[in-house]
Amino acid sequence: MHLRSDADLKASFPSDFVWGVATSAFQIEGAHDADGKGPSIWDTFCAKEGTIADKSDGKEACAHYRLLEPDLDMIASLGVNAYRFSASWPRVQALGSGAFNSKGLDFYERLVDGLLARGVAPYLTLNHWDLPQALQDQGGWAARDTCDRFVDYALAMHQRLGDRVASIATHNEPWVMSILGHESGIFAPGMKDRGIAMRVAHHLMLSHGMALRALRVQGCTAKLGIVLNLAPVQAATDSAQDKAKAHLEDGLLLRLYMDPMFRASYPQDVMEHLGMDAPPVQAGDLDIIATPMDFLGINYYSRSVVRAEGQWDVHSSGLPLTEMAWEIYPQGLTELLLRLHRDYPVPTLLITENGGAFKDPLTQGRIHDADRQHYLQTHIAAVQAAMAQGVNMGGYMVWSLMDNFEWASGYAKRFGIVHVDYATQKRTLKDSALWYRQFLGAQVPAQRAA
Ligand code: FCB
Repeated sequence: MHLRSDADLKASFPSDFVWGVATSAFQIEGAHDADGKGPSIWDTFCAKEGTIADKSDGKEACAHYRLLEPDLDMIASLGVNAYRFSASWPRVQALGSGAFNSKGLDFYERLVDGLLARGVAPYLTLNHWDLPQALQDQGGWAARDTCDRFVDYALAMHQRLGDRVASIATHNEPWVMSILGHESGIFAPGMKDRGIAMRVAHHLMLSHGMALRALRVQGCTAKLGIVLNLAPVQAATDSAQDKAKAHLEDGLLLRLYMDPMFRASYPQDVMEHLGMDAPPVQAGDLDIIATPMDFLGINYYSRSVVRAEGQWDVHSSGLPLTEMAWEIYPQGLTELLLRLHRDYPVPTLLITENGGAFKDPLTQGRIHDADRQHYLQTHIAAVQAAMAQGVNMGGYMVWSLMDNFEWASGYAKRFGIVHVDYATQKRTLKDSALWYRQFLGAQVPAQRAA
């Protein structure tokens, strides 16, 4: 891909473009049982044998709960105008029903006020996977009742913070919660049942629509939306079989979410494929799911290539891979954005996550992560290319502010533009963070001004 100069690239974005960094509660906060927090399904999952590659958990993570103030200073020092974070539902309501925990709400209030005091817009996500365990014990997202509990939680967050957050996303990546949590079982709560997974997907989307409606009734002024993990799904060859499989996989990853939210219907071919496992739709559900939103958040990491028989070998294309063995494929982001713009009446699109895990050797206090910097540059250019072709883009956020608990991969995979030494909780800006800061035009301290 042709790389323009950073200054040209930056200047091609509108001045009100949102530039941010992103995190999520379970991955950074630690303080798993502090100040009345209840256990989440991820606390339970980590405690099970064989679930997390390095046998770690989120008990301490980046100690962000304790290090909030210095972390806020660090965020502001990057020159971003937005910070995407999530609230831990069991921190603000230990059991997911009943009493709210004022100390938990206080924490997010300090976070939001601290961002605003530093000129950074708060982008809140309500559900980044850490469902209260007490709700899981009553069926979790497979139970329709959980939708009502989620609306109560959304309203409580709105009551405390709705006048100050710039944006509220209901859920992060319903596909991941549904499929990785309930079909393949590699994420919490670790189930392996496609029918349950599809109930979960439906209830996540239903609760999203219900929450949007309830928040609007309360006069919520924050921009409302959801965050999906999307990718272009490509057939490995031109054979009819591979193409048919790619179409189905696109249906399971993208159309199963986009169609109900933007066309008030489930894709027919996917419903037929699912048969008995199809989502349990009740009268009126699809209208609720299709409640208009102000923005759609997209998390993009790579493309997906499928074959009718067997697995696609990521080494076969010769593309460079990240430490997650994900192909580095920035043009897929342009392709995806153009497709969404073409096929759906989408609102403003935000890239709510984009980034990569790389090796990151720490040498003499510096991390020369040129590969991550290149990844970010080329993906930002890919966003620009989509905008130049008419896509309405509102912002771009790097995953992640700092290294953190990468779910089933534990702490070994580092996505941060800031390095975290987990023994000391020392944060060190990697070269990619220094680059991003410079790209954004933030004030560079004198010793690095050259
Ligand atoms: C996304 C998650 C995020 C992070 C990145 C690498 O699926 O939303 O929490 O783990 O992947």
